[in-house]
Amino acid sequence: MCGIFGIVYSEEKADLGKHLYKAAERLVYRGYDSAGFAGISENGAVDLRKDAGKLEEVDKHLNLREIRGQRGIVQLRWATFGIPSKENAQPHIDCKGRLVSAHNGNVVNTAELIRELSSRGHTFRGDNDGEVVCHTVEDFFNRDNNLDEAIRKAYRVLKGDYAFVIADSRGKGMFAVKKGSSLFMGIGEGFICASSDLPSILQFTRRYVHLYDGEYVEFDHSKFTIKSLETGEKIEREPEVYSGDISSAEKGEFPHFMIKEIMEQPSTARTLITYIKESEEPREFAREIKKTRRTYVIGSGSSFHASLMGTYFLGRIAGKLAIPVVAGEFIERFQGLLESKDSFILVSQSGETKDTINVLDFLQSKGYENLYSFVNVPGSTIHLRTKKRFPIMSDLEISVAATKTFLNQVIGFAGLASLMTPGNPGLKTLEKLPELIETTLKETELQIRDLASELKDFNSLYILGYGENYPAALEGALKIKEVSYIHGEAYYSTEFKHGPLALIEPDQPVIFISSNSHPEKIISAINEVRVRRGKIISVSNENPSIRLNSDVFIPIAEDGFFTTPILSVVILQLLAYYLAVERGLNPDTPRNLSKTITVD
Ligand code: M6R
Repeated sequence: MCGIFGIVYSEEKADLGKHLYKAAERLVYRGYDSAGFAGISENGAVDLRKDAGKLEEVDKHLNLREIRGQRGIVQLRWATFGIPSKENAQPHIDCKGRLVSAHNGNVVNTAELIRELSSRGHTFRGDNDGEVVCHTVEDFFNRDNNLDEAIRKAYRVLKGDYAFVIADSRGKGMFAVKKGSSLFMGIGEGFICASSDLPSILQFTRRYVHLYDGEYVEFDHSKFTIKSLETGEKIEREPEVYSGDISSAEKGEFPHFMIKEIMEQPSTARTLITYIKESEEPREFAREIKKTRRTYVIGSGSSFHASLMGTYFLGRIAGKLAIPVVAGEFIERFQGLLESKDSFILVSQSGETKDTINVLDFLQSKGYENLYSFVNVPGSTIHLRTKKRFPIMSDLEISVAATKTFLNQVIGFAGLASLMTPGNPGLKTLEKLPELIETTLKETELQIRDLASELKDFNSLYILGYGENYPAALEGALKIKEVSYIHGEAYYSTEFKHGPLALIEPDQPVIFISSNSHPEKIISAINEVRVRRGKIISVSNENPSIRLNSDVFIPIAEDGFFTTPILSVVILQLLAYYLAVERGLNPDTPRNLSKTITVD
Protein backbone atom coordinates (compact mmCIF):
# COMPACT_ATOMS: atom_id res chain seq x y z
CA MET A 1 0.00 0.00 0.00
CA CYS A 2 1.06 3.63 -0.22
CA GLY A 3 4.09 4.78 1.72
CA ILE A 4 4.77 8.32 2.92
CA PHE A 5 7.90 9.96 4.25
CA GLY A 6 8.55 13.57 5.28
CA ILE A 7 11.79 15.07 6.56
CA VAL A 8 12.93 18.45 7.86
CA TYR A 9 16.65 19.30 7.90
CA SER A 10 18.35 22.15 9.74
CA GLU A 11 19.56 23.64 6.46
CA GLU A 12 19.18 23.55 2.68
CA LYS A 13 20.49 20.27 1.25
CA ALA A 14 21.89 20.02 -2.24
CA ASP A 15 21.48 16.24 -1.98
CA LEU A 16 17.95 16.22 -0.52
CA GLY A 17 16.70 14.15 -3.49
CA LYS A 18 19.28 11.44 -2.77
CA HIS A 19 18.09 11.16 0.85
CA LEU A 20 14.48 11.06 -0.28
CA TYR A 21 15.35 8.37 -2.81
CA LYS A 22 16.92 6.23 -0.07
CA ALA A 23 13.74 6.59 1.97
CA ALA A 24 11.61 5.71 -1.07
CA GLU A 25 13.67 2.60 -1.76
CA ARG A 26 12.70 1.34 1.68
CA LEU A 27 9.01 1.93 0.98
CA VAL A 28 8.81 0.12 -2.36
CA TYR A 29 8.26 -3.27 -0.75
CA ARG A 30 4.84 -2.11 0.40
CA GLY A 31 3.69 -2.23 -3.24
CA TYR A 32 2.99 0.84 -5.44
CA ASP A 33 2.28 2.08 -8.95
CA SER A 34 3.32 5.78 -8.83
CA ALA A 35 6.14 7.72 -7.23
CA GLY A 36 6.61 11.36 -6.31
CA PHE A 37 8.95 13.68 -4.40
CA ALA A 38 8.56 17.29 -3.28
CA GLY A 39 11.45 19.45 -2.11
CA ILE A 40 10.79 22.72 -0.27
CA SER A 41 13.66 25.22 -0.18
CA GLU A 42 14.45 27.66 2.63
CA ASN A 43 13.00 30.44 0.47
CA GLY A 44 9.68 28.57 0.17
CA ALA A 45 10.10 27.37 -3.45
CA VAL A 46 8.44 24.00 -4.09
CA ASP A 47 9.94 21.49 -6.51
CA LEU A 48 7.32 18.81 -7.18
CA ARG A 49 8.13 15.81 -9.39
CA LYS A 50 5.83 12.81 -9.70
CA ASP A 51 4.36 10.33 -12.14
CA ALA A 52 2.86 6.88 -12.55
CA GLY A 53 5.49 4.14 -12.80
CA LYS A 54 8.20 2.44 -10.79
CA LEU A 55 10.59 4.55 -8.75
CA GLU A 56 13.53 3.97 -11.13
CA GLU A 57 11.40 4.84 -14.17
CA VAL A 58 10.06 8.05 -12.64
CA ASP A 59 13.57 8.96 -11.52
CA LYS A 60 14.89 8.31 -15.02
CA HIS A 61 12.70 10.90 -16.65
CA LEU A 62 12.17 13.35 -13.76
CA ASN A 63 15.58 13.15 -12.04
CA LEU A 64 14.07 12.79 -8.59
CA ARG A 65 17.52 12.56 -7.05
CA GLU A 66 18.42 16.07 -8.16
CA ILE A 67 15.81 17.74 -5.97
CA ARG A 68 17.27 20.23 -3.47
CA GLY A 69 15.70 21.76 -0.39
CA GLN A 70 15.48 21.90 3.37
CA ARG A 71 12.23 19.93 3.68
CA GLY A 72 11.19 16.93 1.62
CA ILE A 73 8.16 14.70 1.11
CA VAL A 74 8.05 11.31 -0.61
CA GLN A 75 5.01 9.29 -1.60
CA LEU A 76 4.70 5.92 -3.28
CA ARG A 77 1.12 5.35 -4.32
CA TRP A 78 -0.86 2.11 -4.65
CA ALA A 79 -4.00 3.15 -6.51
CA THR A 80 -7.36 2.95 -4.76
CA PHE A 81 -8.99 6.34 -5.48
CA GLY A 82 -8.23 7.39 -9.05
CA ILE A 83 -6.25 5.54 -11.73
CA PRO A 84 -2.45 5.52 -11.59
CA SER A 85 -1.54 8.78 -13.41
CA LYS A 86 0.66 11.86 -13.07
CA GLU A 87 -2.29 13.89 -11.70
CA ASN A 88 -3.21 11.31 -9.09
CA ALA A 89 0.41 10.62 -8.09
CA GLN A 90 1.40 12.26 -4.80
CA PRO A 91 2.58 14.58 -3.18
CA HIS A 92 -0.17 17.07 -3.91
CA ILE A 93 -0.22 20.84 -3.70
CA ASP A 94 -3.23 22.99 -2.83
CA CYS A 95 -4.89 25.46 -5.24
CA LYS A 96 -2.22 28.13 -4.78
CA GLY A 97 0.72 25.75 -4.59
CA ARG A 98 1.41 26.71 -0.99
CA LEU A 99 0.55 23.58 1.02
CA VAL A 100 2.32 20.35 0.08
CA SER A 101 1.05 17.00 1.37
CA ALA A 102 1.07 13.25 0.90
CA HIS A 103 -1.20 10.66 2.41
CA ASN A 104 -1.47 6.96 2.98
CA GLY A 105 -4.72 5.00 3.52
CA ASN A 106 -8.23 5.76 2.33
CA VAL A 107 -10.44 8.82 2.67
CA VAL A 108 -13.81 7.19 2.16
CA ASN A 109 -15.86 10.37 1.63
CA THR A 110 -13.61 11.48 -1.24
CA ALA A 111 -16.39 11.87 -3.84
CA GLU A 112 -18.55 13.99 -1.51
CA LEU A 113 -15.60 16.20 -0.54
CA ILE A 114 -14.48 16.73 -4.14
CA ARG A 115 -18.02 17.87 -4.98
CA GLU A 116 -18.27 20.14 -1.95
CA LEU A 117 -14.80 21.69 -2.22
CA SER A 118 -15.11 22.19 -5.99
CA SER A 119 -18.38 24.05 -5.42
CA ARG A 120 -16.45 26.33 -3.10
CA GLY A 121 -13.88 27.12 -5.79
CA HIS A 122 -11.15 24.52 -5.20
CA THR A 123 -9.45 23.24 -8.33
CA PHE A 124 -8.79 19.51 -8.39
CA ARG A 125 -6.13 18.27 -10.79
CA GLY A 126 -7.10 14.59 -10.37
CA ASP A 127 -9.53 12.50 -8.34
CA ASN A 128 -7.27 11.02 -5.73
CA ASP A 129 -8.15 11.03 -2.03
CA GLY A 130 -4.70 12.39 -1.15
CA GLU A 131 -5.57 15.53 -3.08
CA VAL A 132 -8.79 15.75 -1.07
CA VAL A 133 -6.69 15.78 2.13
CA CYS A 134 -4.65 18.69 0.80
CA HIS A 135 -7.67 20.78 -0.27
CA THR A 136 -9.62 20.03 2.91
CA VAL A 137 -6.77 21.33 5.06
CA GLU A 138 -6.38 24.30 2.66
CA ASP A 139 -10.06 25.11 2.98
CA PHE A 140 -9.72 25.59 6.75
CA PHE A 141 -6.26 27.17 6.45
CA ASN A 142 -7.66 29.86 4.14
CA ARG A 143 -10.02 30.96 6.92
CA ASP A 144 -7.52 31.89 9.66
CA ASN A 145 -4.05 31.05 8.39
CA ASN A 146 -3.45 28.58 11.24
CA LEU A 147 -2.22 25.24 9.90
CA ASP A 148 -2.35 23.50 13.28
CA GLU A 149 -6.04 24.37 13.68
CA ALA A 150 -6.79 23.61 10.04
CA ILE A 151 -5.42 20.09 10.44
CA ARG A 152 -7.59 19.40 13.48
CA LYS A 153 -10.66 20.70 11.69
CA ALA A 154 -9.86 18.64 8.59
CA TYR A 155 -9.54 15.56 10.79
CA ARG A 156 -13.20 15.95 11.74
CA VAL A 157 -14.22 16.05 8.10
CA LEU A 158 -11.97 13.41 6.52
CA LYS A 159 -13.57 9.98 7.05
CA GLY A 160 -11.67 6.73 6.81
CA ASP A 161 -8.30 5.45 7.96
CA TYR A 162 -5.25 7.35 6.86
CA ALA A 163 -2.04 9.12 7.79
CA PHE A 164 -0.60 12.19 6.13
CA VAL A 165 2.28 14.65 6.19
CA ILE A 166 1.74 18.29 5.26
CA ALA A 167 3.92 21.39 5.11
CA ASP A 168 3.30 25.08 4.50
CA SER A 169 5.96 26.10 1.99
CA ARG A 170 5.94 29.63 3.38
CA GLY A 171 6.23 28.42 6.96
CA LYS A 172 8.73 26.20 8.77
CA GLY A 173 8.64 22.54 9.73
CA MET A 174 6.00 19.95 8.94
CA PHE A 175 2.99 18.18 10.43
CA ALA A 176 2.22 14.46 10.45
CA VAL A 177 -1.20 13.03 11.27
CA LYS A 178 -2.19 9.49 12.24
CA LYS A 179 -5.69 8.12 12.03
CA GLY A 180 -5.77 4.37 11.44
CA SER A 181 -2.68 4.04 9.21
CA SER A 182 0.83 3.45 10.48
CA LEU A 183 3.12 6.39 11.23
CA PHE A 184 6.46 6.64 13.01
CA MET A 185 8.79 9.54 13.79
CA GLY A 186 12.58 9.34 13.48
CA ILE A 187 14.79 11.66 15.50
CA GLY A 188 18.27 12.19 14.04
CA GLU A 189 21.23 14.57 14.25
CA GLY A 190 20.14 17.71 12.41
CA PHE A 191 16.83 16.30 11.14
CA ILE A 192 13.49 14.84 12.16
CA CYS A 193 11.37 12.68 9.88
CA ALA A 194 8.01 10.93 9.82
CA SER A 195 7.24 7.80 7.85
CA SER A 196 4.58 5.19 7.37
CA ASP A 197 7.28 2.60 7.77
CA LEU A 198 10.05 2.00 10.28
CA PRO A 199 12.60 0.56 7.79
CA SER A 200 12.69 3.84 5.87
CA ILE A 201 13.61 5.64 9.10
CA LEU A 202 16.10 3.14 10.50
CA GLN A 203 18.67 3.72 7.77
CA PHE A 204 18.90 7.36 8.97
CA THR A 205 18.48 6.94 12.72
CA ARG A 206 17.64 4.27 15.27
CA ARG A 207 15.82 6.74 17.56
CA TYR A 208 12.14 6.61 16.84
CA VAL A 209 8.81 7.55 18.40
CA HIS A 210 5.52 5.64 18.20
CA LEU A 211 2.44 7.59 17.26
CA TYR A 212 -1.05 6.42 18.15
CA ASP A 213 -4.28 6.88 16.24
CA GLY A 214 -5.85 10.26 16.92
CA GLU A 215 -2.46 11.98 17.34
CA TYR A 216 -0.60 14.48 15.22
CA VAL A 217 2.85 15.90 15.51
CA GLU A 218 4.46 19.18 14.53
CA PHE A 219 8.18 18.98 13.95
CA ASP A 220 11.17 20.86 12.67
CA HIS A 221 14.77 19.64 12.45
CA SER A 222 15.36 19.52 16.21
CA LYS A 223 12.10 19.30 18.15
CA PHE A 224 8.69 17.71 17.89
CA THR A 225 5.38 18.19 19.68
CA ILE A 226 2.76 15.45 19.75
CA LYS A 227 -0.85 16.52 20.31
CA SER A 228 -4.31 14.99 20.40
CA LEU A 229 -6.34 15.57 17.25
CA GLU A 230 -9.53 15.71 19.33
CA THR A 231 -8.47 18.16 22.01
CA GLY A 232 -5.22 19.73 20.82
CA GLU A 233 -3.64 18.82 24.17
CA LYS A 234 0.09 18.06 24.23
CA ILE A 235 1.23 14.46 24.74
CA GLU A 236 4.67 13.76 26.21
CA ARG A 237 6.56 10.82 24.73
CA GLU A 238 10.25 10.00 24.73
CA PRO A 239 12.00 8.46 21.70
CA GLU A 240 12.92 4.77 21.88
CA VAL A 241 16.00 3.15 20.41
CA TYR A 242 15.47 0.35 17.87
CA SER A 243 17.63 -2.58 18.87
CA GLY A 244 16.73 -5.07 16.08
CA ASP A 245 18.99 -6.10 13.22
CA ILE A 246 18.70 -3.55 10.43
CA SER A 247 20.87 -5.55 8.05
CA SER A 248 17.63 -7.42 7.32
CA ALA A 249 16.68 -4.43 5.16
CA GLU A 250 19.65 -5.19 2.82
CA LYS A 251 19.75 -7.97 0.23
CA GLY A 252 23.44 -8.69 0.81
CA GLU A 253 24.76 -11.34 -1.57
CA PHE A 254 21.29 -12.74 -2.32
CA PRO A 255 19.54 -11.96 -5.63
CA HIS A 256 16.18 -11.42 -3.91
CA PHE A 257 14.86 -10.65 -0.45
CA MET A 258 12.58 -13.67 -0.63
CA ILE A 259 15.41 -16.21 -0.80
CA LYS A 260 17.42 -14.25 1.77
CA GLU A 261 14.47 -14.33 4.14
CA ILE A 262 13.88 -18.05 3.52
CA MET A 263 17.55 -18.68 4.33
CA GLU A 264 17.37 -16.55 7.49
CA GLN A 265 14.77 -18.88 9.00
CA PRO A 266 17.12 -21.06 11.07
CA SER A 267 18.42 -17.93 12.75
CA THR A 268 15.08 -16.15 13.28
CA ALA A 269 13.56 -19.41 14.56
CA ARG A 270 16.46 -19.78 17.01
CA THR A 271 15.92 -16.26 18.36
CA LEU A 272 12.23 -16.87 18.96
CA ILE A 273 12.72 -20.31 20.49
CA THR A 274 15.31 -18.93 22.93
CA TYR A 275 12.80 -16.25 23.91
CA ILE A 276 10.05 -18.86 24.40
CA LYS A 277 12.33 -21.01 26.55
CA GLU A 278 13.95 -18.30 28.61
CA SER A 279 11.55 -15.45 29.06
CA GLU A 280 8.72 -15.11 31.56
CA GLU A 281 6.46 -13.17 29.14
CA PRO A 282 5.33 -16.09 26.96
CA ARG A 283 4.61 -18.11 30.12
CA GLU A 284 2.35 -15.38 31.38
CA PHE A 285 0.71 -15.17 27.95
CA ALA A 286 0.11 -18.95 28.09
CA ARG A 287 -1.32 -18.79 31.63
CA GLU A 288 -3.76 -16.07 30.64
CA ILE A 289 -4.95 -17.80 27.47
CA LYS A 290 -5.41 -21.04 29.40
CA LYS A 291 -7.81 -19.36 31.82
CA THR A 292 -10.15 -18.13 29.08
CA ARG A 293 -13.18 -20.05 27.76
CA ARG A 294 -12.36 -20.40 24.08
CA THR A 295 -9.76 -18.68 21.97
CA TYR A 296 -10.40 -17.16 18.57
CA VAL A 297 -7.28 -16.93 16.43
CA ILE A 298 -7.72 -14.37 13.69
CA GLY A 299 -5.62 -13.33 10.69
CA SER A 300 -5.52 -12.82 6.93
CA GLY A 301 -3.51 -14.50 4.16
CA SER A 302 -0.43 -16.24 5.52
CA SER A 303 -1.28 -15.03 8.99
CA PHE A 304 -4.58 -16.92 8.71
CA HIS A 305 -2.73 -20.06 7.65
CA ALA A 306 -0.47 -19.65 10.68
CA SER A 307 -3.60 -19.19 12.81
CA LEU A 308 -5.09 -22.38 11.42
CA MET A 309 -1.92 -24.35 12.07
CA GLY A 310 -1.74 -22.74 15.51
CA THR A 311 -5.20 -23.98 16.41
CA TYR A 312 -4.16 -27.53 15.54
CA PHE A 313 -1.24 -27.13 17.95
CA LEU A 314 -3.34 -25.54 20.69
CA GLY A 315 -6.05 -28.19 20.36
CA ARG A 316 -3.91 -31.29 20.11
CA ILE A 317 -1.01 -30.35 22.40
CA ALA A 318 -2.68 -28.11 24.96
CA GLY A 319 -6.29 -29.33 24.75
CA LYS A 320 -7.44 -25.77 24.18
CA LEU A 321 -10.49 -25.09 22.06
CA ALA A 322 -9.18 -22.55 19.59
CA ILE A 323 -11.15 -21.37 16.58
CA PRO A 324 -9.28 -20.10 13.51
CA VAL A 325 -11.05 -17.30 11.66
CA VAL A 326 -10.27 -15.33 8.52
CA ALA A 327 -10.19 -11.71 9.75
CA GLY A 328 -12.57 -10.48 7.06
CA GLU A 329 -15.33 -12.87 8.10
CA PHE A 330 -14.99 -12.67 11.88
CA ILE A 331 -17.59 -10.01 12.61
CA GLU A 332 -20.31 -11.40 10.35
CA ARG A 333 -19.80 -14.92 11.58
CA PHE A 334 -19.22 -14.56 15.30
CA GLN A 335 -20.97 -11.41 16.47
CA GLY A 336 -23.58 -12.48 18.98
CA LEU A 337 -21.66 -15.65 19.90
CA LEU A 338 -18.84 -14.12 21.91
CA GLU A 339 -18.46 -14.02 25.68
CA SER A 340 -16.34 -11.91 27.98
CA LYS A 341 -14.47 -15.07 29.08
CA ASP A 342 -13.26 -15.66 25.51
CA SER A 343 -9.83 -14.62 24.31
CA PHE A 344 -8.83 -13.30 20.91
CA ILE A 345 -5.39 -13.63 19.34
CA LEU A 346 -4.86 -11.29 16.39
CA VAL A 347 -2.13 -12.58 14.11
CA SER A 348 -0.43 -10.16 11.73
CA GLN A 349 3.10 -9.70 10.45
CA SER A 350 2.70 -6.00 9.81
CA GLY A 351 0.25 -5.23 12.60
CA GLU A 352 -1.47 -2.88 10.15
CA THR A 353 -3.79 -5.13 8.12
CA LYS A 354 -7.15 -3.39 7.86
CA ASP A 355 -9.25 -6.58 7.93
CA THR A 356 -7.62 -7.52 11.23
CA ILE A 357 -7.81 -3.99 12.64
CA ASN A 358 -11.56 -4.01 11.85
CA VAL A 359 -11.84 -7.02 14.18
CA LEU A 360 -9.87 -5.19 16.85
CA ASP A 361 -12.10 -2.10 16.49
CA PHE A 362 -15.19 -4.30 16.78
CA LEU A 363 -13.94 -6.19 19.85
CA GLN A 364 -12.83 -3.01 21.59
CA SER A 365 -16.10 -1.25 20.81
CA LYS A 366 -17.98 -4.16 22.45
CA GLY A 367 -15.75 -4.05 25.52
CA TYR A 368 -13.95 -7.40 25.14
CA GLU A 369 -10.78 -7.29 27.17
CA ASN A 370 -8.80 -10.45 26.44
CA LEU A 371 -7.17 -9.11 23.31
CA TYR A 372 -3.77 -10.60 22.42
CA SER A 373 -1.54 -10.39 19.39
CA PHE A 374 1.15 -12.20 17.44
CA VAL A 375 2.79 -9.32 15.56
CA ASN A 376 6.19 -8.84 13.96
CA VAL A 377 6.37 -5.05 13.71
CA PRO A 378 6.80 -3.38 17.10
CA GLY A 379 4.90 -0.12 17.37
CA SER A 380 2.34 -1.16 14.77
CA THR A 381 -1.35 -0.48 15.39
CA ILE A 382 -2.25 -4.02 16.48
CA HIS A 383 0.86 -4.24 18.62
CA LEU A 384 0.08 -1.01 20.43
CA ARG A 385 -3.61 -1.73 20.93
CA THR A 386 -3.52 -5.24 22.36
CA LYS A 387 -3.13 -6.17 26.00
CA LYS A 388 -0.36 -8.75 25.64
CA ARG A 389 1.85 -9.32 22.64
CA PHE A 390 3.70 -12.40 21.52
CA PRO A 391 6.58 -10.93 19.51
CA ILE A 392 7.33 -12.75 16.25
CA MET A 393 11.00 -11.67 16.32
CA SER A 394 11.72 -12.08 12.62
CA ASP A 395 13.30 -8.62 12.15
CA LEU A 396 12.27 -6.73 9.04
CA GLU A 397 10.64 -8.76 6.29
CA ILE A 398 10.91 -6.94 2.99
CA SER A 399 9.72 -9.41 0.35
CA VAL A 400 5.95 -9.12 -0.15
CA ALA A 401 5.60 -12.87 0.37
CA ALA A 402 5.62 -13.75 4.05
CA THR A 403 8.19 -16.48 4.75
CA LYS A 404 10.26 -16.07 7.91
CA THR A 405 7.40 -14.29 9.66
CA PHE A 406 4.97 -17.11 8.82
CA LEU A 407 7.42 -19.64 10.19
CA ASN A 408 7.90 -17.74 13.43
CA GLN A 409 4.15 -17.29 13.83
CA VAL A 410 3.67 -21.07 13.76
CA ILE A 411 6.71 -21.62 15.96
CA GLY A 412 5.14 -19.11 18.35
CA PHE A 413 1.96 -21.19 18.45
CA ALA A 414 3.94 -24.39 18.94
CA GLY A 415 5.71 -22.65 21.85
CA LEU A 416 2.46 -21.34 23.29
CA ALA A 417 0.83 -24.79 23.09
CA SER A 418 3.89 -26.33 24.75
CA LEU A 419 3.88 -23.76 27.57
CA MET A 420 0.19 -24.46 28.19
CA THR A 421 0.92 -28.16 28.72
CA PRO A 422 2.19 -29.49 32.09
CA GLY A 423 5.93 -30.19 31.90
CA ASN A 424 6.21 -28.33 28.56
CA PRO A 425 7.19 -31.48 26.59
CA GLY A 426 6.97 -29.71 23.22
CA LEU A 427 9.89 -27.41 24.06
CA LYS A 428 12.39 -30.25 23.48
CA THR A 429 11.13 -30.66 19.90
CA LEU A 430 11.24 -26.92 19.34
CA GLU A 431 14.89 -26.76 20.40
CA LYS A 432 15.82 -29.00 17.48
CA LEU A 433 13.88 -26.99 14.91
CA PRO A 434 16.50 -24.41 13.82
CA GLU A 435 18.93 -27.16 12.91
CA LEU A 436 16.23 -29.13 11.12
CA ILE A 437 15.26 -26.07 9.09
CA GLU A 438 18.90 -25.58 8.18
CA THR A 439 19.26 -29.22 7.10
CA THR A 440 16.04 -29.01 5.09
CA LEU A 441 17.26 -25.92 3.24
CA LYS A 442 20.65 -27.47 2.50
CA GLU A 443 19.41 -30.88 1.52
CA THR A 444 16.43 -29.98 -0.63
CA GLU A 445 17.42 -26.77 -2.42
CA LEU A 446 19.00 -28.44 -5.46
CA GLN A 447 16.22 -30.96 -5.86
CA ILE A 448 13.64 -28.15 -5.62
CA ARG A 449 15.42 -26.10 -8.26
CA ASP A 450 15.25 -29.04 -10.66
CA LEU A 451 11.62 -29.63 -9.80
CA ALA A 452 10.81 -25.95 -10.40
CA SER A 453 12.37 -26.11 -13.82
CA GLU A 454 10.22 -29.18 -14.59
CA LEU A 455 7.00 -27.57 -13.31
CA LYS A 456 7.44 -24.01 -14.52
CA ASP A 457 5.13 -24.30 -17.54
CA PHE A 458 2.16 -25.85 -15.80
CA ASN A 459 -0.89 -23.65 -15.28
CA SER A 460 -2.06 -25.39 -12.13
CA LEU A 461 -0.57 -27.23 -9.19
CA TYR A 462 -2.56 -28.92 -6.44
CA ILE A 463 -1.26 -29.41 -2.93
CA LEU A 464 -2.91 -31.84 -0.55
CA GLY A 465 -2.41 -32.19 3.17
CA TYR A 466 -4.12 -34.06 5.96
CA GLY A 467 -4.60 -32.84 9.55
CA GLU A 468 -1.94 -30.38 10.69
CA ASN A 469 -0.37 -30.56 7.22
CA TYR A 470 -3.41 -28.97 5.60
CA PRO A 471 -2.48 -25.41 6.70
CA ALA A 472 1.00 -26.11 5.30
CA ALA A 473 -0.62 -27.01 1.97
CA LEU A 474 -2.66 -23.79 2.04
CA GLU A 475 0.44 -21.74 2.76
CA GLY A 476 2.43 -23.47 0.00
CA ALA A 477 -0.36 -22.86 -2.52
CA LEU A 478 -0.58 -19.19 -1.56
CA LYS A 479 3.18 -18.74 -1.97
CA ILE A 480 3.09 -20.40 -5.39
CA LYS A 481 0.20 -18.23 -6.62
CA GLU A 482 1.65 -15.06 -5.18
CA VAL A 483 5.15 -15.16 -6.60
CA SER A 484 5.01 -17.49 -9.62
CA TYR A 485 1.46 -16.65 -10.81
CA ILE A 486 0.81 -20.37 -11.25
CA HIS A 487 -2.60 -21.36 -9.98
CA GLY A 488 -1.68 -23.25 -6.83
CA GLU A 489 -4.60 -24.76 -4.98
CA ALA A 490 -4.65 -26.58 -1.66
CA TYR A 491 -7.14 -29.20 -0.56
CA TYR A 492 -7.70 -31.15 2.58
CA SER A 493 -6.56 -34.50 1.18
CA THR A 494 -9.82 -36.36 1.88
CA GLU A 495 -11.78 -33.66 0.03
CA PHE A 496 -9.97 -34.08 -3.27
CA LYS A 497 -12.13 -37.00 -4.38
CA HIS A 498 -15.26 -34.91 -3.76
CA GLY A 499 -14.90 -32.92 -6.97
CA PRO A 500 -11.41 -31.61 -7.77
CA LEU A 501 -10.32 -35.10 -8.88
CA ALA A 502 -12.22 -34.35 -12.09
CA LEU A 503 -9.39 -31.95 -13.00
CA ILE A 504 -6.74 -34.64 -13.07
CA GLU A 505 -5.39 -35.39 -16.53
CA PRO A 506 -2.25 -37.35 -17.40
CA ASP A 507 0.89 -35.63 -16.03
CA GLN A 508 -1.01 -33.07 -13.92
CA PRO A 509 1.30 -32.50 -10.91
CA VAL A 510 -0.17 -32.96 -7.45
CA ILE A 511 1.95 -32.36 -4.35
CA PHE A 512 1.17 -34.45 -1.27
CA ILE A 513 2.40 -33.47 2.18
CA SER A 514 2.58 -36.49 4.35
CA SER A 515 3.74 -37.51 7.80
CA ASN A 516 4.14 -40.92 9.32
CA SER A 517 1.32 -40.40 11.79
CA HIS A 518 -1.32 -40.96 9.11
CA PRO A 519 0.32 -42.20 5.86
CA GLU A 520 -2.68 -44.36 4.93
CA LYS A 521 -4.82 -41.24 4.47
CA ILE A 522 -2.33 -39.82 2.01
CA ILE A 523 -1.69 -43.12 0.26
CA SER A 524 -5.37 -43.40 -0.68
CA ALA A 525 -5.33 -39.85 -2.03
CA ILE A 526 -2.11 -40.61 -3.94
CA ASN A 527 -3.66 -43.68 -5.48
CA GLU A 528 -6.75 -41.82 -6.61
CA VAL A 529 -4.52 -39.43 -8.57
CA ARG A 530 -2.01 -42.06 -9.64
CA VAL A 531 -4.53 -44.33 -11.35
CA ARG A 532 -5.58 -41.29 -13.41
CA ARG A 533 -1.93 -40.87 -14.44
CA GLY A 534 -1.36 -37.65 -12.49
CA LYS A 535 2.21 -36.83 -11.49
CA ILE A 536 2.80 -37.59 -7.79
CA ILE A 537 5.18 -35.32 -5.90
CA SER A 538 5.53 -36.23 -2.24
CA VAL A 539 6.89 -33.95 0.44
CA SER A 540 7.06 -36.56 3.13
CA ASN A 541 8.75 -38.09 6.11
CA GLU A 542 10.77 -41.12 5.03
CA ASN A 543 8.24 -43.84 4.24
CA PRO A 544 8.97 -46.71 1.81
CA SER A 545 5.39 -47.03 0.70
CA ILE A 546 5.00 -43.32 -0.09
CA ARG A 547 8.39 -43.28 -1.79
CA LEU A 548 7.34 -46.23 -3.95
CA ASN A 549 4.11 -44.55 -4.98
CA SER A 550 5.68 -41.21 -5.90
CA ASP A 551 7.23 -39.87 -9.10
CA VAL A 552 9.22 -37.34 -7.07
CA PHE A 553 9.97 -37.82 -3.39
CA ILE A 554 11.25 -34.89 -1.31
CA PRO A 555 12.20 -36.09 2.15
CA ILE A 556 11.30 -34.12 5.28
CA ALA A 557 14.21 -34.25 7.70
CA GLU A 558 12.26 -35.37 10.77
CA ASP A 559 8.80 -36.63 11.61
CA GLY A 560 6.78 -34.90 14.30
CA PHE A 561 3.53 -33.11 15.00
CA PHE A 562 5.22 -29.67 14.82
CA THR A 563 8.12 -30.54 12.59
CA THR A 564 6.43 -32.07 9.54
CA PRO A 565 4.11 -29.14 8.75
CA ILE A 566 6.77 -26.54 9.55
CA LEU A 567 9.50 -28.19 7.47
CA SER A 568 7.14 -28.88 4.58
CA VAL A 569 6.33 -25.16 4.40
CA VAL A 570 10.06 -24.43 4.11
CA ILE A 571 10.23 -26.82 1.13
CA LEU A 572 7.19 -25.23 -0.52
CA GLN A 573 8.60 -21.72 0.02
CA LEU A 574 11.71 -22.81 -1.90
CA LEU A 575 9.55 -24.28 -4.64
CA ALA A 576 7.50 -21.07 -4.98
CA TYR A 577 10.69 -19.00 -5.08
CA TYR A 578 12.37 -21.12 -7.76
CA LEU A 579 9.18 -21.31 -9.83
CA ALA A 580 9.13 -17.49 -9.89
CA VAL A 581 12.80 -17.34 -10.85
CA GLU A 582 12.36 -20.01 -13.57
CA ARG A 583 9.48 -17.96 -15.00
CA GLY A 584 11.62 -14.82 -15.07
CA LEU A 585 9.63 -13.02 -12.34
CA ASN A 586 10.80 -10.89 -9.45
CA PRO A 587 9.35 -12.69 -6.43
CA ASP A 588 9.92 -9.71 -4.13
CA THR A 589 7.32 -7.49 -5.74
CA PRO A 590 4.46 -9.57 -7.16
CA ARG A 591 2.04 -7.73 -9.40
CA ASN A 592 -1.08 -6.18 -7.81
CA LEU A 593 0.06 -7.00 -4.28
CA SER A 594 1.30 -5.02 -1.37
CA LYS A 595 3.15 -6.03 1.76
CA THR A 596 0.75 -4.22 4.03
CA ILE A 597 -2.93 -4.16 3.09
CA THR A 598 -4.28 -1.10 4.87
CA VAL A 599 -7.62 -0.95 3.02
CA ASP A 600 -10.90 -2.89 3.26
O1 M6R B 1 0.69 -8.22 7.78
P1 M6R B 1 -0.27 -9.36 7.82
O2 M6R B 1 0.33 -10.62 8.32
O3 M6R B 1 -1.52 -9.04 8.59
O4 M6R B 1 -0.70 -9.59 6.34
C1 M6R B 1 -1.72 -10.48 5.98
C2 M6R B 1 -1.65 -10.85 4.51
O5 M6R B 1 -1.86 -9.71 3.73
C3 M6R B 1 -0.31 -11.48 4.15
O6 M6R B 1 -0.03 -12.59 4.94
C4 M6R B 1 -0.28 -11.89 2.68
O7 M6R B 1 -1.17 -12.94 2.46
C5 M6R B 1 1.16 -12.26 2.31
N1 M6R B 1 1.60 -11.45 1.22
C6 M6R B 1 1.33 -13.67 1.98
O8 M6R B 1 2.63 -13.97 1.58
